[in-house]
Amino acid sequence: MRQAFVVAVVLALALLQAQQSAAQSTSNVKLIPLNTFYSLWKASQTVNATRAQNITFLDVRPKTLYQLSHVPDARNVPSQDAKKVAAQFASRKRGVDPTKDVACYCTMSSTAVSACNEFAKLKAYAKVKVYALNASFSDWVVAKYPTEKSGKIGH
Ligand SMILES: *[C@@H]1O[C@H](CO)[C@@H](O)[C@H](O)[C@H]1NC(C)=O
Ligand SMILES: *[C@@H]1O[C@H](CO)[C@@H](O)[C@H](O)[C@H]1NC(C)=O
Ligand SMILES: *[C@@H]1O[C@H](CO)[C@@H](O)[C@H](O)[C@H]1NC(C)=O
Repeated sequence: MRQAFVVAVVLALALLQAQQSAAQSTSNVKLIPLNTFYSLWKASQTVNATRAQNITFLDVRPKTLYQLSHVPDARNVPSQDAKKVAAQFASRKRGVDPTKDVACYCTMSSTAVSACNEFAKLKAYAKVKVYALNASFSDWVVAKYPTEKSGKIGH
């Protein structure tokens, strides 16, 4: 009886801890609306953008969708590769400076958040802002914001 109680308490604590770490792991990604995301992108495009404006935009959709159309200058990092690419960026293996802010978008904001979280949870990104678009790429298209077809594949 007493043992069962102890087991139950231990399980409850483990569950609580798991929930807390799940909440923490998404808290470093800032979900932003479409107009804010566009403003960040626009600022990054200005000639002589300042360091704070110099953001790495990541399209975390599959490569086939990226090739059809994407946010100009965004790199393609399909969400399933985000963890690997985040580590490569952190070690500067892809010519991307990990001291730059990162902004992800996808067809679903939840995927953008989880992909960008692979960056946010790395120590190398502890001091930068990691954003995720709280909308879909099709909302960007509907808003008639610029798109392009060619670009850098991020991995
Ligand atoms: C950007 O910086 C370069 C080099 O510092 C300078 O020659 C150029 O005039 C600047 N352009 C603008 C639009 O400020
Ligand atoms: C912006 O980022 C690019 C690529 O990482 C880098 O070459 C450039 O020097 C950066 N510019 C500023 C103003 O930080
Ligand atoms: C994200 O978008 C949804 C749906 O439009 C909205 O309800 C929610 O408040 C937004 N979240 C943030 C953090 O902006």
